[in-house]
Amino acid sequence: MTNVINGRKIAKQLNKETKTRVDKLKKEKGIIPGIAVILVGDNPASVIYTRNKHRTAEKLGMKSILRKFPKDVSQAEVLQAIHHYNDDPTIHAILIQLPLPKHLNQTELIEAIAPEKDVDGFNSKNVGKLYNNENGHYPVSCTARGIMTLLHSYLDKIEGKNVTIIGRSILVSRPLQSLLINENATVTMVSLHTDNIDYYTKHADILVVAAGKPNLIKKDQVKLGATVIDVGINRMANHHLVGDVDCDDVKEVAENITPVPGGVGPMTIATLMQQTVDLAEWNK
Ligand code: GUN
Repeated sequence: MTNVINGRKIAKQLNKETKTRVDKLKKEKGIIPGIAVILVGDNPASVIYTRNKHRTAEKLGMKSILRKFPKDVSQAEVLQAIHHYNDDPTIHAILIQLPLPKHLNQTELIEAIAPEKDVDGFNSKNVGKLYNNENGHYPVSCTARGIMTLLHSYLDKIEGKNVTIIGRSILVSRPLQSLLINENATVTMVSLHTDNIDYYTKHADILVVAAGKPNLIKKDQVKLGATVIDVGINRMANHHLVGDVDCDDVKEVAENITPVPGGVGPMTIATLMQQTVDLAEWNK
């Protein structure tokens, strides 16, 4: 029997745990975790994502600032806001919603965030720590960490598993590769450029699809009993959201599978909230 992984339920449980930690930090240390989310322009998806992040943080009892800039804002103005939040002791987490308008230098802005407030884990200092599997505390990509939480909820162990990741993004696939390697999985990175991609998908005990191509993966490409994680969010002409995996088809062979919507998506925000509280605890 296939398990359709309920990301909404697991995210709700995680948010409950986060709320308990927020209440405890307030009561015992007088600390209110604070997050500043920076939004540039009016990309419809980014407007919805940042609103959800802001509302969820408030619901969990945190301080939340949603700082909006017009799409023609200068690099210097955004940098100034980042420096302001870096120096604000009531803010523990800073996030710049991506993608940014082309005229802004994304790398410079991400690098300007103090590493101990870099809640997305995109700053090169934190990327390096993850890559090197360093001991100690550091933030990592929220979507990648959220996927690890889903995997741990459904699998006894990750060690020794063959994992294929389709996609090479800096936001999700590369940090996820490191997290999995650090847990002794065998990870193969492939892309739409890969010759004979089916060879790699069919050998995967865990198949992660982050290619941005609707219904790319069908059941004949998936190993019997595999766990399939769909990171795709594709809005179709009829406004429906679909993933990169044909879920109804692949369900026939997979043991565990994430739906779209309601799989990986809800985990990103819940993990962002979790990691904001982590930062408040680590840097108090
Ligand atoms: N845009 C899409 N996903 C993300 C994310 O995880 N973090 C940020 N900052 N922007 C995004």
